[in-house]
Amino acid sequence: MKNTVTTLQKMKNEGKKISMLTCYDYTTACLMEEAGINGILIGDSLGMTMMGYDDTLPVTVDDIIHHCASVSRGLKDTFLVADMPFMSYQTSVYDAVKNAGRLIKEGHAQAVKLEGGASVCKQIEAIVKSDIPVVAHIGLTPQSINAFGGFKVQGKNIDRAKQLLEDAKAVEKAGAFMVTLECVPAKLATLISEELTIPTIGIGAGNGCDGQILVYQDMLNMFSGLKPKFVKHFANIGEEMKSAFKAYDEEVKSTAYPAEEHCFKISDEVMEALEEECKEEHAKEVEFEVNRAERV
Ligand code: KIV
Repeated sequence: MKNTVTTLQKMKNEGKKISMLTCYDYTTACLMEEAGINGILIGDSLGMTMMGYDDTLPVTVDDIIHHCASVSRGLKDTFLVADMPFMSYQTSVYDAVKNAGRLIKEGHAQAVKLEGGASVCKQIEAIVKSDIPVVAHIGLTPQSINAFGGFKVQGKNIDRAKQLLEDAKAVEKAGAFMVTLECVPAKLATLISEELTIPTIGIGAGNGCDGQILVYQDMLNMFSGLKPKFVKHFANIGEEMKSAFKAYDEEVKSTAYPAEEHCFKISDEVMEALEEECKEEHAKEVEFEVNRAERV
Protein backbone atom coordinates (compact mmCIF):
# COMPACT_ATOMS: atom_id res chain seq x y z
CA MET A 1 0.00 0.00 0.00
CA LYS A 2 1.31 3.44 -0.94
CA ASN A 3 1.73 5.73 2.07
CA THR A 4 0.26 9.20 1.57
CA VAL A 5 -0.90 12.06 3.79
CA THR A 6 -4.36 10.44 3.66
CA THR A 7 -3.26 6.91 4.66
CA LEU A 8 -1.05 8.29 7.47
CA GLN A 9 -4.02 10.25 8.84
CA LYS A 10 -6.20 7.13 8.51
CA MET A 11 -3.62 5.17 10.55
CA LYS A 12 -4.01 7.66 13.41
CA ASN A 13 -7.80 7.56 13.14
CA GLU A 14 -7.72 3.74 13.34
CA GLY A 15 -5.19 3.66 16.20
CA LYS A 16 -2.46 2.06 14.02
CA LYS A 17 1.12 3.16 14.77
CA ILE A 18 3.24 4.85 12.07
CA SER A 19 6.89 3.79 11.62
CA MET A 20 9.41 6.33 10.34
CA LEU A 21 13.21 6.39 10.06
CA THR A 22 15.75 8.84 8.78
CA CYS A 23 17.60 7.81 5.63
CA TYR A 24 20.20 9.47 3.42
CA ASP A 25 21.16 7.08 0.60
CA TYR A 26 19.67 4.86 -2.13
CA THR A 27 20.86 1.47 -0.83
CA THR A 28 19.45 1.98 2.65
CA ALA A 29 16.24 3.41 1.17
CA CYS A 30 15.70 0.18 -0.82
CA LEU A 31 16.09 -1.86 2.39
CA MET A 32 13.65 0.36 4.33
CA GLU A 33 11.14 0.18 1.47
CA GLU A 34 11.36 -3.64 1.47
CA ALA A 35 10.95 -3.66 5.27
CA GLY A 36 7.63 -1.80 4.95
CA ILE A 37 8.57 1.37 6.86
CA ASN A 38 5.73 3.92 6.45
CA GLY A 39 7.80 7.08 6.12
CA ILE A 40 11.36 8.26 5.58
CA LEU A 41 12.79 11.60 6.65
CA ILE A 42 15.83 13.11 4.99
CA GLY A 43 16.75 14.71 8.30
CA ASP A 44 19.19 17.56 8.59
CA SER A 45 20.78 15.13 11.07
CA LEU A 46 22.67 14.10 7.91
CA GLY A 47 25.00 16.98 8.80
CA MET A 48 26.14 14.91 11.77
CA THR A 49 25.64 11.32 10.56
CA MET A 50 26.85 11.70 6.97
CA MET A 51 28.98 14.85 6.95
CA GLY A 52 30.62 14.78 10.38
CA TYR A 53 29.56 18.24 11.60
CA ASP A 54 29.08 18.80 15.35
CA ASP A 55 25.47 19.91 14.83
CA THR A 56 22.87 20.38 12.08
CA LEU A 57 23.41 24.11 11.53
CA PRO A 58 25.80 24.03 8.52
CA VAL A 59 23.47 21.84 6.40
CA THR A 60 22.24 23.49 3.18
CA VAL A 61 19.17 23.04 0.99
CA ASP A 62 21.49 21.58 -1.68
CA ASP A 63 22.78 18.96 0.81
CA ILE A 64 19.21 17.84 1.58
CA ILE A 65 18.27 17.80 -2.13
CA HIS A 66 21.32 15.66 -2.98
CA HIS A 67 20.46 12.99 -0.39
CA CYS A 68 16.68 13.24 -0.90
CA ALA A 69 16.88 12.66 -4.65
CA SER A 70 19.11 9.59 -4.05
CA VAL A 71 16.69 8.15 -1.50
CA SER A 72 13.65 8.87 -3.71
CA ARG A 73 15.07 6.56 -6.41
CA GLY A 74 14.85 3.63 -3.95
CA LEU A 75 11.24 4.20 -2.88
CA LYS A 76 7.87 3.11 -4.20
CA ASP A 77 5.36 3.03 -1.33
CA THR A 78 7.26 4.77 1.46
CA PHE A 79 6.28 8.39 2.17
CA LEU A 80 9.22 10.78 1.73
CA VAL A 81 9.72 13.89 3.88
CA ALA A 82 12.60 16.37 3.43
CA ASP A 83 13.89 18.50 6.29
CA MET A 84 14.16 22.26 5.78
CA PRO A 85 17.64 23.16 7.03
CA PHE A 86 18.62 26.04 9.30
CA MET A 87 17.95 29.47 7.71
CA SER A 88 16.04 28.03 4.75
CA TYR A 89 12.67 29.17 6.20
CA GLN A 90 13.35 31.34 9.28
CA THR A 91 14.44 34.30 7.13
CA SER A 92 11.08 34.94 5.39
CA VAL A 93 7.85 33.39 4.19
CA TYR A 94 9.12 33.86 0.63
CA ASP A 95 12.31 31.86 1.37
CA ALA A 96 10.24 29.17 3.09
CA VAL A 97 7.96 28.61 0.07
CA LYS A 98 10.82 28.84 -2.43
CA ASN A 99 13.02 26.33 -0.57
CA ALA A 100 10.11 23.98 0.17
CA GLY A 101 9.39 24.04 -3.57
CA ARG A 102 13.00 23.10 -4.37
CA LEU A 103 12.84 20.12 -2.00
CA ILE A 104 9.75 18.86 -3.84
CA LYS A 105 10.88 19.66 -7.41
CA GLU A 106 14.57 18.73 -7.15
CA GLY A 107 14.61 16.37 -4.13
CA HIS A 108 11.38 14.56 -5.12
CA ALA A 109 10.09 14.72 -1.53
CA GLN A 110 6.35 14.47 -0.89
CA ALA A 111 6.39 16.77 2.15
CA VAL A 112 8.74 19.07 4.05
CA LYS A 113 9.49 19.33 7.76
CA LEU A 114 10.42 22.47 9.63
CA GLU A 115 11.25 23.20 13.26
CA GLY A 116 9.28 25.52 15.53
CA GLY A 117 5.76 26.17 16.81
CA ALA A 118 3.74 29.39 16.76
CA SER A 119 6.80 31.32 15.53
CA VAL A 120 6.80 29.53 12.15
CA CYS A 121 3.04 29.29 11.55
CA LYS A 122 3.13 31.98 8.83
CA GLN A 123 5.66 29.87 6.93
CA ILE A 124 3.60 26.69 7.44
CA GLU A 125 0.43 28.42 6.15
CA ALA A 126 2.19 29.72 3.04
CA ILE A 127 3.84 26.38 2.20
CA VAL A 128 0.55 24.51 2.69
CA LYS A 129 -1.20 27.09 0.45
CA SER A 130 1.29 26.07 -2.26
CA ASP A 131 -0.03 22.50 -1.89
CA ILE A 132 3.09 21.22 -0.18
CA PRO A 133 2.31 19.08 2.89
CA VAL A 134 4.14 20.18 6.04
CA VAL A 135 5.40 18.21 9.04
CA ALA A 136 6.03 20.47 12.05
CA HIS A 137 8.71 19.69 14.66
CA ILE A 138 8.44 20.87 18.28
CA GLY A 139 10.05 20.05 21.64
CA LEU A 140 13.81 19.75 21.26
CA THR A 141 14.50 21.44 17.96
CA PRO A 142 18.20 20.86 17.17
CA GLN A 143 18.45 23.98 14.95
CA SER A 144 17.91 26.00 18.18
CA ILE A 145 20.78 24.30 20.01
CA ASN A 146 22.54 27.62 20.65
CA ALA A 147 19.36 29.17 22.06
CA PHE A 148 18.58 26.06 24.20
CA GLY A 149 22.18 25.78 25.46
CA GLY A 150 22.40 22.06 24.58
CA PHE A 151 20.28 18.98 23.83
CA LYS A 152 17.76 18.88 26.70
CA VAL A 153 14.32 17.38 27.39
CA GLN A 154 11.64 20.02 26.79
CA GLY A 155 8.33 20.89 28.48
CA LYS A 156 9.13 19.73 32.00
CA ASN A 157 7.63 22.65 33.93
CA ILE A 158 4.03 23.87 33.68
CA ASP A 159 4.84 26.95 31.58
CA ARG A 160 6.96 25.03 29.07
CA ALA A 161 4.45 22.13 28.99
CA LYS A 162 1.58 24.59 28.26
CA GLN A 163 3.74 26.29 25.62
CA LEU A 164 4.38 22.96 23.88
CA LEU A 165 0.66 22.11 23.85
CA GLU A 166 -0.11 25.56 22.44
CA ASP A 167 2.62 25.18 19.80
CA ALA A 168 1.22 21.78 18.80
CA LYS A 169 -2.28 23.24 18.40
CA ALA A 170 -0.92 26.25 16.52
CA VAL A 171 0.94 24.18 13.91
CA GLU A 172 -2.12 21.97 13.41
CA LYS A 173 -4.27 25.10 12.90
CA ALA A 174 -1.70 26.50 10.45
CA GLY A 175 -2.17 23.38 8.29
CA ALA A 176 0.62 20.95 9.27
CA PHE A 177 -0.56 17.39 8.55
CA MET A 178 1.83 15.80 11.09
CA VAL A 179 4.02 16.93 13.98
CA THR A 180 7.27 15.53 15.35
CA LEU A 181 7.68 15.65 19.13
CA GLU A 182 11.35 15.39 20.13
CA CYS A 183 12.56 14.82 23.71
CA VAL A 184 9.22 15.49 25.35
CA PRO A 185 8.11 13.71 28.58
CA ALA A 186 6.00 10.67 27.63
CA LYS A 187 2.84 11.76 29.51
CA LEU A 188 2.91 15.22 27.94
CA ALA A 189 3.43 13.72 24.45
CA THR A 190 0.47 11.38 25.05
CA LEU A 191 -1.73 14.34 26.03
CA ILE A 192 -0.62 16.32 22.96
CA SER A 193 -1.35 13.27 20.75
CA GLU A 194 -4.85 13.02 22.21
CA GLU A 195 -5.53 16.75 21.84
CA LEU A 196 -4.49 16.87 18.16
CA THR A 197 -6.36 15.40 15.23
CA ILE A 198 -3.15 15.10 13.12
CA PRO A 199 -0.61 12.30 13.79
CA THR A 200 2.24 12.92 16.23
CA ILE A 201 5.60 11.22 15.56
CA GLY A 202 7.76 10.83 18.64
CA ILE A 203 11.51 10.67 19.08
CA GLY A 204 12.24 10.41 22.78
CA ALA A 205 8.56 11.12 23.47
CA GLY A 206 7.22 7.73 24.62
CA ASN A 207 4.69 5.27 23.35
CA GLY A 208 1.62 7.50 23.40
CA CYS A 209 2.57 9.17 20.12
CA ASP A 210 0.87 8.06 16.91
CA GLY A 211 4.19 6.91 15.46
CA GLN A 212 7.93 6.86 16.07
CA ILE A 213 11.03 8.02 14.24
CA LEU A 214 14.72 7.28 14.91
CA VAL A 215 17.96 8.22 13.23
CA TYR A 216 18.87 4.96 11.50
CA GLN A 217 22.55 4.95 12.47
CA ASP A 218 21.42 5.26 16.12
CA MET A 219 19.03 2.30 16.00
CA LEU A 220 21.60 0.15 14.16
CA ASN A 221 24.32 1.06 16.70
CA MET A 222 26.71 2.44 14.11
CA PHE A 223 28.21 5.03 16.47
CA SER A 224 30.50 4.03 19.32
CA GLY A 225 30.00 7.35 21.16
CA LEU A 226 26.96 8.87 22.87
CA LYS A 227 23.69 6.90 23.14
CA PRO A 228 20.67 9.09 23.98
CA LYS A 229 18.28 7.51 26.58
CA PHE A 230 15.49 7.09 24.03
CA VAL A 231 17.56 5.14 21.49
CA LYS A 232 17.18 1.35 21.31
CA HIS A 233 19.79 -0.64 19.39
CA PHE A 234 17.85 -3.01 17.12
CA ALA A 235 21.13 -4.43 15.73
CA ASN A 236 24.89 -4.02 16.15
CA ILE A 237 25.73 -3.09 12.58
CA GLY A 238 28.67 -0.88 13.58
CA GLU A 239 30.50 -3.88 15.12
CA GLU A 240 29.55 -6.09 12.15
CA MET A 241 30.96 -3.51 9.71
CA LYS A 242 34.14 -3.01 11.69
CA SER A 243 34.88 -6.74 11.87
CA ALA A 244 34.19 -7.10 8.12
CA PHE A 245 36.58 -4.21 7.32
CA LYS A 246 39.23 -5.81 9.58
CA ALA A 247 38.82 -9.24 7.95
CA TYR A 248 39.14 -7.64 4.48
CA ASP A 249 42.29 -5.79 5.52
CA GLU A 250 43.83 -9.02 6.82
CA GLU A 251 42.90 -11.09 3.75
CA VAL A 252 44.22 -8.47 1.30
CA LYS A 253 47.50 -8.41 3.13
CA SER A 254 47.77 -12.21 3.39
CA THR A 255 46.55 -12.63 -0.26
CA ALA A 256 43.74 -14.91 0.98
CA TYR A 257 41.46 -12.54 -0.95
CA PRO A 258 40.75 -12.60 -3.85
CA ALA A 259 40.62 -16.41 -4.07
CA GLU A 260 40.18 -18.47 -7.23
CA GLU A 261 36.36 -18.21 -7.14
CA HIS A 262 36.58 -14.39 -7.28
CA CYS A 263 38.75 -14.36 -10.42
CA PHE A 264 37.79 -14.18 -14.12
CA LYS A 265 39.15 -16.92 -16.42
CA ILE A 266 41.05 -16.70 -19.71
CA SER A 267 42.01 -19.63 -21.99
CA ASP A 268 45.57 -21.11 -21.78
CA GLU A 269 45.97 -20.59 -25.57
CA VAL A 270 45.42 -16.84 -25.32
CA MET A 271 47.79 -16.58 -22.37
CA GLU A 272 50.53 -18.64 -24.10
CA ALA A 273 50.28 -16.48 -27.24
CA LEU A 274 50.47 -13.33 -25.16
CA GLU A 275 53.46 -14.58 -23.14
CA GLU A 276 55.23 -15.49 -26.42
CA GLU A 277 54.67 -11.92 -27.70
CA CYS A 278 56.05 -10.50 -24.46
CA LYS A 279 59.16 -12.67 -24.74
CA GLU A 280 59.78 -11.47 -28.33
CA GLU A 281 59.27 -7.87 -27.24
CA HIS A 282 61.82 -8.25 -24.40
CA ALA A 283 64.33 -9.90 -26.76
CA LYS A 284 64.01 -6.91 -29.14
CA GLU A 285 64.56 -4.49 -26.25
CA VAL A 286 67.72 -6.34 -25.14
CA GLU A 287 69.04 -6.36 -28.72
CA PHE A 288 68.40 -2.63 -29.04
CA GLU A 289 70.27 -1.91 -25.77
CA VAL A 290 73.27 -4.06 -26.84
CA ASN A 291 73.51 -2.25 -30.21
CA ARG A 292 73.30 1.14 -28.50
CA ALA A 293 76.09 0.19 -26.02
CA GLU A 294 78.33 -0.90 -28.93
CA ARG A 295 77.77 2.45 -30.77
CA VAL A 296 78.74 4.57 -27.71
O1 KIV B 1 17.02 15.65 11.41
C1 KIV B 1 16.47 14.65 11.90
O2 KIV B 1 16.92 13.52 11.76
C2 KIV B 1 15.25 14.87 12.65
C3 KIV B 1 14.71 13.70 13.43
C4 KIV B 1 15.54 13.49 14.60
C5 KIV B 1 13.27 13.87 13.75
O3 KIV B 1 14.73 15.93 12.65
